[in-house]
Amino acid sequence: MAGASRALVARVIFLGPPGAGKGTQAARLAEHQGIPRISTGDMLRDAIAAGTPVGKQVGPIMEKGGLVPDDLLDKIISERLRMKDAENGYILDGFPRTLRQAEGFERMETSHGDVTDDVFVLSIEVPRDELLRRLSGRRWCPTCQATYHVYNNPPKSDALCDNEGAKLIQREDDKEVAVTRRLAEYDERTAPLIGYYRGRSRFHRIDGYRPTDVVFADLLEIVARREAAASRAGELA
Ligand code: AP5
Ligand code: MG
Repeated sequence: MAGASRALVARVIFLGPPGAGKGTQAARLAEHQGIPRISTGDMLRDAIAAGTPVGKQVGPIMEKGGLVPDDLLDKIISERLRMKDAENGYILDGFPRTLRQAEGFERMETSHGDVTDDVFVLSIEVPRDELLRRLSGRRWCPTCQATYHVYNNPPKSDALCDNEGAKLIQREDDKEVAVTRRLAEYDERTAPLIGYYRGRSRFHRIDGYRPTDVVFADLLEIVARREAAASRAGELA
């Protein structure tokens, strides 16, 4: 990980349908670039687990696979981006998810004096039947939010988290009815963001229907190309 990486590819948005591998790849890229991964899904699940007023509001919506109201997301993200660890950049996993959220994010960025041209958008594409396989086989650690898959990425010890040994569970919204709704919400409200960002930011499509390591290697290559181009263009301070 180089300091230059942080300066050049430091504000990243992961787009992609449920199960595309946003969380899996975002966690790896965040570690590589030395910046935090900000997962709105994880933050909302934390709020539910803690029983906060926000958690109580969003719990029933998420369980059914619906989208949480835009205003609430705006508030959560603007507070999160003001935290110290996000000063040098961040990776957004699961936000924005609607055009309204994208516009709200742009206003937040502009008010910080940042240019949205520098936002790096990675759109992971995976065929629908593979998404269904991934979601139905996903298992999740309620303690540290690590993600596994019963076949593709099993834990070392049967049904227990590698990190602290907690019992893995299936997310309520990975059950069939909620998955159908999540995919429909994606098609209707999130997929239009592909056209939105293709027109205005550094936008890259990634074939996510390959092994995790291959997808990540591809992703790093895209990042390296972007950094080299920026270097050549004299964008380094
Ligand atoms: P969120 O937690 O963001 O869920 P999601 O978008 O539905 O995405 P997933 O976490 O299901 O999939 P992923 O792409 O991260 O894939 P993963 O890496 O886990 O949001 C949950 C809910 O919160 C929403 O439904 C909504 O209610 C609410 N919410 C959150 N943000 C919101 C917003 N901005 N606005 C409104 N509401 C919001 O991988 C999936 C599985 O596949 C895993 O088992 C993994 O091990 C496996 N896998 C990953 N990559 C590969 C690979 N290359 N090959 C094989 N298997 C793989
Ligand atoms: Mg995720």
